[in-house]
Amino acid sequence: MKSVTFFTLDKLQSHLQSIAIHYSKVVCIADSNTFKFCFHRLGINADTIVIPAGEEHKNIASCISIWEQLTQLNVDRNALILSLGGGMITDLGSFAASCFKRGVTHINIPTSLLGMVDASVGGKTGIDFLGFKNQIGVFDSACESYICSDLLSTLPARELNSAWSEIIKHYLIHDEEAFLEFTKSDNKSTLSYNDMQGLIERAVAIKSHFVSQDPFDKGVRKALNFGHTIGHAIESYYLTTSAPLLHGEAVAIGLIAESFITYNRQKISDIDLNSITSTLHYRIALAPIHPDAFESIYSLALKDKKNTTTINCVLLYGIGQFELDVPIHHDEILLALNHYNSTCEQYT
Ligand SMILES: NC(=O)c1ccc[n+]([C@@H]2O[C@H](COP(=O)([O-])OP(=O)(O)OC[C@H]3O[C@@H](n4cnc5c(N)ncnc54)[C@H](O)[C@@H]3O)[C@@H](O)[C@H]2O)c1
Ligand SMILES: [Zn+2]
Repeated sequence: MKSVTFFTLDKLQSHLQSIAIHYSKVVCIADSNTFKFCFHRLGINADTIVIPAGEEHKNIASCISIWEQLTQLNVDRNALILSLGGGMITDLGSFAASCFKRGVTHINIPTSLLGMVDASVGGKTGIDFLGFKNQIGVFDSACESYICSDLLSTLPARELNSAWSEIIKHYLIHDEEAFLEFTKSDNKSTLSYNDMQGLIERAVAIKSHFVSQDPFDKGVRKALNFGHTIGHAIESYYLTTSAPLLHGEAVAIGLIAESFITYNRQKISDIDLNSITSTLHYRIALAPIHPDAFESIYSLALKDKKNTTTINCVLLYGIGQFELDVPIHHDEILLALNHYNSTCEQYT
């Protein structure tokens, strides 16, 4: 895997200026928000390709539009493409760049917290297709990522807060010490972008560790799905309602539910369960799920696994350790969702 580099904004600007001269052209792919709020902060001269913001634009039409504009700009294989945005743009931009002329050098500059700790690291690129998420894409091990937490200052609060769940998940599966330090920082009501950079670096190191062990996602990288078996089902359920959840919000609920299952199997203590639950509620605004939805969520989890009888899940084995492919059952999922609802009363 190519490297992830951390920059302050000043250093990012000077670094981009110094590398730009080695390329025939620099093109920045952004969405309408990251073009408006982040592009000028890079301090470089570049051609820009702007895609409308939103997951619904992570599609083949946007890809074609990028390829058309790259062609009109006479971009050759000695150019540099920057993908400046959240996970939508880094997935789309790096996919488009890795196919254009069989691959033009490209760098992700994530601007959302989720992009920094998850989407821009690990080489997965792609677009949604025919209603299926990330249906078309490639593993692109050559893609670098430049992370600068100053760019988060314009990210909407709900987007920022929801991504803490991915950071907490990284700590829970691999770094007990980071998790304990993080929970202590909960008495700090606001974190500076500098504080955040350290937390992000630690989370990225964990993701990079799993990616380097399993670059093509065939084994141990599955650990990164902790919280996602139930989380994805909840996310899919809420997509059918008038109030969809952000991915990180659904994952936060999934983390609480799957930690409860872990606790019920006596693999973590009640103190651990409470600290996982309280830190997630502290960072992310979470509401109870109507019990009428529980069966639908269970069915969605089953469907997601393309398996009619068993739902396999990542569970913790103490904080900082995990077990892969543990079957979980209907009744314990419903119990876990009930438990989650009770924590909403307790922590909000
Ligand atoms: N490749 C991977 O390994 C991987 C991992 C996780 C998620 N993903 C993908 O990431 C995507 C979700 O990423 P996301 O949560 O960043 O969503 P996103 O890219 O849609 O960004 C969320 C919103 O925040 C805005 N935004 C981003 N940065 C901003 C900034 N600094 N200032 C102002 N507005 C800003 C965007 O315009 C958008 O409206 C999904 O498509 C998902 O599939 C990929
Ligand atoms: Zn996730």
